[in-house]
Amino acid sequence: MEFHAQITSTNERAKVWARSGAREGSLVVADHQSHGRGRFGRAWVAPAGSALLFSLVLRPKIEPAKAALIALLAAAAVRQAVAESTGLDAAIKWPNDVLVGGKKLSGVLAESLLEGNRLEAVIAGIGVNVNQQTFATDRATSIWGLTGQNHPRFTLLAAILAGMHQRYQALSAGDGAALLAECRQHSATLGQDVVLRAGTSTVRGRAVDIDSDGRLVLDTADGLVRALAGEVSTGEEMA
Ligand code: BTN
Repeated sequence: MEFHAQITSTNERAKVWARSGAREGSLVVADHQSHGRGRFGRAWVAPAGSALLFSLVLRPKIEPAKAALIALLAAAAVRQAVAESTGLDAAIKWPNDVLVGGKKLSGVLAESLLEGNRLEAVIAGIGVNVNQQTFATDRATSIWGLTGQNHPRFTLLAAILAGMHQRYQALSAGDGAALLAECRQHSATLGQDVVLRAGTSTVRGRAVDIDSDGRLVLDTADGLVRALAGEVSTGEEMA
């Protein structure tokens, strides 16, 4: 494990480390990131000392097409650790945000390193808003914002890592069923009418399932559509 008081991005560091042979389970934690990254090239910003920011190097023996399951696994572990340590009613917005009361508490940026067609490593980068008191958008919140109390970041880190370990072992043994059942049970997305944007394409439909590769299944006017990645909007965000 490496701890950095200040770093550009834990994902960037973990990628460099993985390329130079970091063992599975190598962990990069930071108190502050100057260039934290989110999905779709967005910035991920958190004041120093407020958020839980880390990246885990995994070397799953799965096909690249199944790498999305690693991000689902991370979100599921975050959701459970937050729910159990705070009592908050947290849900998973497909593919891997954790929401409480419709606001974002955590995001996952899972990046695959490929060697030809082989998945060499997956960097699971996780940000959890723990003790932030201000937010750039009213769609985000923190444990402090929801409970009015500071929460110990490293206790939460330990719980998330334990949860990831347990789910990763099951997945590595070929058992993805429990993970998918959990993601369906605690989904903020299933059963909703959504707009899914991926690159330049936009699909509208009802989110009806998460399939065994972690894809979101949408029931659309043109039949069932399966999406491996993208951004989902619901309700008033759809406009
Ligand atoms: C998202 O919701 O768009 C994903 C956000 C992921 C942020 C985390 S913070 C730790 C790790 N390092 C990064 O640069 N990004 C991830």
